[in-house]
Amino acid sequence: MKFFIDTANIEEIKVANELGVLAGVTTNPSLVAKEGVSFHDRLKEITSVVTDRSVSAEVIAEDAEGMIKEGKELAAIAPNITIKVPMTLEGLKAVKAFSSEGITTNVTLVFNANQALLAARAGATYVSPFLGRLDDIGHDGMQLIATIAEIFDRHHLDTQIIAASIRHPLHVTDAALHGAHIATVPYNVLGQLVKHPLTDQGIQKFLADWEKANQ
Ligand code: E4P
Repeated sequence: MKFFIDTANIEEIKVANELGVLAGVTTNPSLVAKEGVSFHDRLKEITSVVTDRSVSAEVIAEDAEGMIKEGKELAAIAPNITIKVPMTLEGLKAVKAFSSEGITTNVTLVFNANQALLAARAGATYVSPFLGRLDDIGHDGMQLIATIAEIFDRHHLDTQIIAASIRHPLHVTDAALHGAHIATVPYNVLGQLVKHPLTDQGIQKFLADWEKANQ
């Protein structure tokens, strides 16, 4: 399983990029709104840092024609922009059009397996099931990942599953075990993945022993 970062914050993206594990970036309108900057300017900044990996940028239009127009403008910003399209009938039409023009797509707001299957059949590059938001309403987000992975495998669909709406490290481990190709993680969760108290204690002990021996 690969790692994307789920943020529109350029400093977070720069730090994550230096770790050597970053395979892409996902943004959404809420994340961009939090930044208080122009969407296009921010996408230019992000794609100048993450040059050769997918950067998802979401369309706001709700009709296929509007999505296609908006998506083409976003795709013109950089060759590694992936157009994020909501899982609707209009969204599926737009995915089909993008896919026939070689523009990569990420179908977002996926909450059941049929939505994922439809998106894959329309030609989506990625589908994003939202784990955390399903868990929030008492549904099993992780089971959805497993079901989609099994369906894609059985029917030889090469659409990649992005485990999205990740809330904590256990989501990441479980997404990897249940067949997600990618987890898109918020910056705080990325930091949590690195940390273990025994690692910190171990470093302190090694340093203390080294100092004692060299006094
Ligand atoms: C994915 O692409 C979305 O941007 C994201 O994971 C949504 O997560 P949230 O439920 O924390 O808003």
